[in-house]
Amino acid sequence: MKFFVDTAEIDDIRDLAETGLVDGVTTNPSLIHKSGRDFLEVIAEICDLVDGPVSAEVAATDYPTMLEEGRKLAKIASNVAVKVPLTPDGLKTCRALSQSGTQVNVTLCFSANQAILAAKAGASFISPFIGRLDDIATDGMDLIADICDVYANYPELPTEVLVASVRHPMHVLQAAKLGADVATVPPGVIWQMFNHPLTEKGLAAFVADWQKTGQTIL
Ligand code: G3P
Repeated sequence: MKFFVDTAEIDDIRDLAETGLVDGVTTNPSLIHKSGRDFLEVIAEICDLVDGPVSAEVAATDYPTMLEEGRKLAKIASNVAVKVPLTPDGLKTCRALSQSGTQVNVTLCFSANQAILAAKAGASFISPFIGRLDDIATDGMDLIADICDVYANYPELPTEVLVASVRHPMHVLQAAKLGADVATVPPGVIWQMFNHPLTEKGLAAFVADWQKTGQTIL
């Protein structure tokens, strides 16, 4: 499964990119606002830091303006994936951009029917928001299971399932078990995935016992 980092914070992206575990980045208007950065500038910086797809979301909601914005965002760097909301105008924009070779990430997906429409519109990625479904006592992983089941019937479809609105490491594990293509994960959750008390305890014991040998490797 590919890991995208779900943030617009340059330092967080840089730190994680250095682990070699980062396959892309996703942003959205809320993450851009939180970063306090100029949108076009920070997307360009992120595209320099990470080789994989970097999602940059249009701000408009009408097709003509979304298309114009999407074309401008796509020119920032070759690894920009234009993000559009799952609306009729968003999918019209998705079709136009994907037909011209631009990667499109269709976001704010909350049903399998929406995911079918996005695939038909030529989306490169579909972003089901599992955390927001959990927030209303609906199991977001059921949506991932449904989408993965539907897409598996049509292997010719190019659309990758990009699990979004991830809130904790269990979301990542469950998404991987279901065969999702990508999880876009907040930096803190990725760092949490490293942690296990028995790893820390075991390493401390190894270090202490090695020191007792009085030896060095170098
Ligand atoms: O990529 C979408 C993600 O940023 C949304 O997360 O926690 O606002 O539902 P959240």
